[in-house]
Amino acid sequence: MPDGFVYGENWAPVYEKFTRIRGKVAEADETVAFLERYSSGGSALELGIGDGRLAVPLNERGVRVEGIDNSDSMLKLLAKRTDLIKAWKGDIANFRAEQRYNLVYCVYNTFMLLFTREAQIACLRSAAEALGHDGILVIEVGVPALDGFASGQKTTTLLMDHENTIVDTEVHDPLNQTLVSAVLWFSDTSVRRLPYRTRYVYHQELDTMAECVGLELAERWGDWARSAFNETSKRHISVYRRTDR
Ligand SMILES: C[S@@+](CC[C@H](N)C(=O)[O-])C[C@H]1O[C@@H](n2cnc3c(N)ncnc32)[C@H](O)[C@@H]1O
Repeated sequence: MPDGFVYGENWAPVYEKFTRIRGKVAEADETVAFLERYSSGGSALELGIGDGRLAVPLNERGVRVEGIDNSDSMLKLLAKRTDLIKAWKGDIANFRAEQRYNLVYCVYNTFMLLFTREAQIACLRSAAEALGHDGILVIEVGVPALDGFASGQKTTTLLMDHENTIVDTEVHDPLNQTLVSAVLWFSDTSVRRLPYRTRYVYHQELDTMAECVGLELAERWGDWARSAFNETSKRHISVYRRTDR
């Protein structure tokens, strides 16, 4: 994958359909209810705002939502849905917000799209600086799923129905904790290749990185319904606050 790779440019044409198929549109209400609680009815900043899957309904609940994304195509999807949300083109690994927010959030594994440890720490630092005094940072990431790899490779069927076959192909680099991947989406006579790359983090590493930039863990959940995070959890929702509040 060449450097300068921009995830959203490949994914935007199918993002709405893909998130619907993966249950992410259905999950949005529960996610937004969770996020609303931490925004204190004030302001929120979404890192990697995408098509507004969450920002639009959160805004409809009275939270003043803004967002950052590095993909023109994703920002166009958002602009088609609403003109009530201020969103700008930028890199979540290195941004400086003009104001302080009650809530900053980065969900649906977007944090792991930052491909290096340095980029991930820089993102946390920028996010910490964007928080108001009692501000909250919410991060949702998957628990690394490294079972089933053979010779550093894995292919997983995501969907098989009468119209679609969607498979996820991944190549693992354990030294850098990275996965270079592509979703291959076959439907009738066409196939679309959707590349992406991630650097996975375990929850304790995330806490350590957060501590390095002046944040501390306040809560951790296994899903948006606040189930306990335990050894069977597939993801975690981690809530951080400033240590100097
Ligand atoms: C998995 S999507 C999530 C979108 C939205 N947050 C949601 O939950 O539906 C990741 C989003 O982050 C954006 N993104 C990825 N890397 C980024 C970066 N380094 N800076 C800014 N945006 C980025 C992508 O363009 C995409 O819109």
